[in-house]
Amino acid sequence: MYQILKAEQLADKIYLMDVKAPRVARSCQPGEFVIVRMDEKGERIPLTICDFDREQGIVTIVFQIVGASTLRMAGLKAGDAFQDFVGPLGQPSEFVKEDLAEVKGRRYLFVAGGVGTAPVYPQVKWMKEHGIDVDVIVGAKNKDLLILEKEMESVAGNLYVTTDDGSYGRHGMVTAVIEDLVKDQGKHYDVCVAIGPMIMMKFVCKLTKELGLPTIVSMNPIMVDGTGMCGACRLTVGDEVKFACVDGPEFDGHLVDFDEAMKRQQMYKTEEGRAMLKAMEGDTHHGGCGNCGD
Ligand code: NAD
Ligand code: FES
Repeated sequence: MYQILKAEQLADKIYLMDVKAPRVARSCQPGEFVIVRMDEKGERIPLTICDFDREQGIVTIVFQIVGASTLRMAGLKAGDAFQDFVGPLGQPSEFVKEDLAEVKGRRYLFVAGGVGTAPVYPQVKWMKEHGIDVDVIVGAKNKDLLILEKEMESVAGNLYVTTDDGSYGRHGMVTAVIEDLVKDQGKHYDVCVAIGPMIMMKFVCKLTKELGLPTIVSMNPIMVDGTGMCGACRLTVGDEVKFACVDGPEFDGHLVDFDEAMKRQQMYKTEEGRAMLKAMEGDTHHGGCGNCGD
C-alpha cells in the first residue's frame, strides 16, 4: 500500500497529493507518469508526476476530477493509501537524455495550460537544478483556476501568467503571450515545450509552426489504462502510428495529428465508438481493454 501523506485541494476540481512511494521517487524523471489504483477493483488511472523527493521517497501527483474514479480519489485524505502506485512509466523528457552542454546551449520556452502546469513544473525544476534559466508561460481560465504559481516562480527564469478572462496577470490565452514574446519583444527560442489541454497544444503548435519554433507536446490526455493494452492512446505522428503511453507521452508537436487524436478521444468515450475504432483499426487497436469484445 502507498500512503498518502498530504492531500490538498488546489482549485475547483483540482487536487494535489504527496504519496509515499520510495521506489518510484528514486528513479522517476520529468516527463514520466504513474498509474494509480485505489483498490483491487479500482480503475487504473494514469497521472503525470508533478514533483518528487528522492530522499524522502515522496512523489507528488496532481489530478482533476473528470469522472467517477477521480471523484472518488478526491475524497481520499492524508493517512489513506493507494493499492497500486506503479511507475515510473513512459519515456522521460528528451532533454533529460541529451548532452547537458547541448541543452544548456538552447533557449527553452515552456507553455503550461491549466492542469498541464503540474507536469511542466518538474521539467522547469530540472532546468533550474542544472543551471538553465527558462521562460515559462502559465495560462488558466481565471485566477481561481491558476495552480502552482509560487512553485513555478521559484524555478522559472521569467514567469508570464495569463488568464483567459483577465482576472489575474495578463489577459488572453497562452498563444497571445507567445506572440507577444516572439513577435513584439523579439525573443528567440530554440525549443518550446507545451503541455495542457489538447486544444491548447493544437493551437500552440499551429503558431509555433508559423514561427519556425520546434515544439514538444505531451499526449497524456488521450491515455486510458496507460499500459499499452487498451489502444486508446493510438495517434499518428508524421507517418508513424504511436502509442502515447509506451512511445511517449512526449512527441514532436508539429508532427502530431491533433484532429485525429481529438476525434479518437471522443469516440473512445462510447461503446459504439470503441467498436467502430476496433473495426477500423484492426490489430493495431490492441483491443486489450476488454471493452472491444476481445
Ligand atoms: P483549460 O481549458 O483551463 O485551458 C488552460 C489554458 O490553455 C487556457 O487558459 C488557455 O491559455 C489555453 N488554451 C485553451 N484553449 C486554447 C486555444 N484554443 N488556443 C490557445 N490556448 C488555449 O485547461 P484545463 O481545464 O485545466 O485542462 C484540462 C485538460 O488538460 C484535460 O483535458 C486534461 O486531460 C489536460 N491535461 C493535459 C496534460 C498533458 O500532459 N498534456 C496534463 C494534465 C492535464
Ligand atoms: Fe496507451 Fe491504453 S493508454 S494503450
